[in-house]
Amino acid sequence: MTELTRIGTEGLDSILGGGIVDNATVLISGNPGTGKSILGLQYIYNGATQFDEKGVYLSFEENADEIAQAAESIGFDGWSDLIDDGQILVCDKQELLRHNDFNATLDRLLEAFEETEYERLVLDSLTMFELFFETEEEKRTYLLKFSDILKSNGLTSLLIAEQSAVFPDQDIGLENFLTDGNIYLIQTPTESGVNRYIWVAKMRKQDIETDIFPMDIGDRGITVHESAAGFSMMGGRDDPFPGE
Ligand SMILES: Nc1ncnc2c1ncn2[C@@H]1O[C@H](COP(=O)(O)OP(=O)(O)OP(=O)(O)O)[C@@H](O)[C@H]1O
Ligand SMILES: [Mg+2]
Repeated sequence: MTELTRIGTEGLDSILGGGIVDNATVLISGNPGTGKSILGLQYIYNGATQFDEKGVYLSFEENADEIAQAAESIGFDGWSDLIDDGQILVCDKQELLRHNDFNATLDRLLEAFEETEYERLVLDSLTMFELFFETEEEKRTYLLKFSDILKSNGLTSLLIAEQSAVFPDQDIGLENFLTDGNIYLIQTPTESGVNRYIWVAKMRKQDIETDIFPMDIGDRGITVHESAAGFSMMGGRDDPFPGE
């Protein structure tokens, strides 16, 4: 039987058919402010607090203090204690970019993986990671190498991408071929704020719900309303939630 890694967020695990297949690499895409980083933090936090699974959070976006502040302000209490206890390893951009050579950074990550058994990893973000390289060839080489490191260390990973792409008009990038799954976070403006949605577009080897489901960001992070009827962006229903 396929082993699954649960996100630990009920509605989301449910539309995934239980979780993400162990050792898979999943791309989390969305516009700014759609909740990608929160989902990443939540995945790592839930792993440590609900499943006793150690996690690594790699960030090119923020430093470790800012990440801890973001985590604790959204209600992931004790984030800093989990780091002190070794349940969560955060490598921020200062750490990741310390050497001007990405090989050195990958070597240090490998050392950490040898010392401690981690189950989960988040990269925030793949988009920033890619900006680090000057040529397409270099980028490709490191992406493949990084992807290989994740697989061979048994990590189930979320890679965050800055990409609106519900209907992408660009070529599908290399990252889509490297990943086993694709989850999009979507927000649409309303008079009083935004409506938020999540769409699991692809998940290799898994029976998933491919409808688009409403979600909220609140005090405990992301909640996915799996019980609300999913709807299709192509289905022509103008207002999926009349009366709201
Ligand atoms: N405590 C909270 N309650 C409700 N909503 C919140 C809370 N904290 C943050 N948010 C919402 O979450 C959104 C930010 O989510 P997040 O930082 O994960 O987005 P992102 O997709 O990573 O964006 P970026 O691409 O800019 O990094 C904000 O737009 C804010 O509206
Ligand atoms: Mg972010």
